[in-house]
Amino acid sequence: MISSKTGVKMAQQGSIVITIDGPAGAGKSTLSKKLAHELGFLVLDSGAIYRAMALALLGAGVSTDSVGIPKETLDKISIRVEPCETLMRIFLDDVELKDEIREEYVGLAASRFAALPEVRESLLAIQRDVARSWNIVAEGRDMGNVVFPNAFIKLFITADIGERAKRRYTELMMRGDNPYYSVVLSEMRARDSRDESRKTAPLVAATDSTIIDTTHLTPESALKIMLQLIEDKYDFDQYQTNS
Ligand code: C5P
Repeated sequence: MISSKTGVKMAQQGSIVITIDGPAGAGKSTLSKKLAHELGFLVLDSGAIYRAMALALLGAGVSTDSVGIPKETLDKISIRVEPCETLMRIFLDDVELKDEIREEYVGLAASRFAALPEVRESLLAIQRDVARSWNIVAEGRDMGNVVFPNAFIKLFITADIGERAKRRYTELMMRGDNPYYSVVLSEMRARDSRDESRKTAPLVAATDSTIIDTTHLTPESALKIMLQLIEDKYDFDQYQTNS
């Protein structure tokens, strides 16, 4: 039986890591939150960490066209994460970041800076540290292939690009923006292509991952599939008897 909604639990006998990778708009974020809530795990939102890094670099005057970032610049950036129930809070220089990291320009900048190997390298420790203390659902682009290659279970969530752009468009409308669908679609294509073609940690499904296509699935049915996959593979109770 999968243990349930009791808030985030400290890892016992080593943490359990579930990775969820996939392109923008596939439903990773919604599904990671739901899954983490069901299991009492912490969500590691690696996209938020890349977005915080982008804000810091933009604030330091670094151009998104940069082909290299000096170590001293990266060393000065202090990003910290903390759990809040099963969700992740993120701090830049001890100031909590909230809606500002969700702006479109921050996502686009994050995707440009994320192509630089030194940026990715500088963010590895913070991501792995979280898994030292907590059982986690790690969400991003390279969780299964690079950051947590030994994860307990690896999921790759995808959906048709048209459907993903439609979801993103609806999200922006709900937020009070007035986007053009064609612009949302072309920016999503550009971001996919950057994430998939970069040399370091490209977005690609890990060979040992299970692919879930959410084009025609509700979040609830996708969650059911994920829980079933996890339950089929493992009995969490034996890991959490002391929690
Ligand atoms: O997932 P989210 O849209 O918040 O991520 C912002 C950008 O950060 C992505 O477009 C991607 O380029 C980058 N990213 C990454 N590796 C991760 C998470 C995010 O390259 N693990």
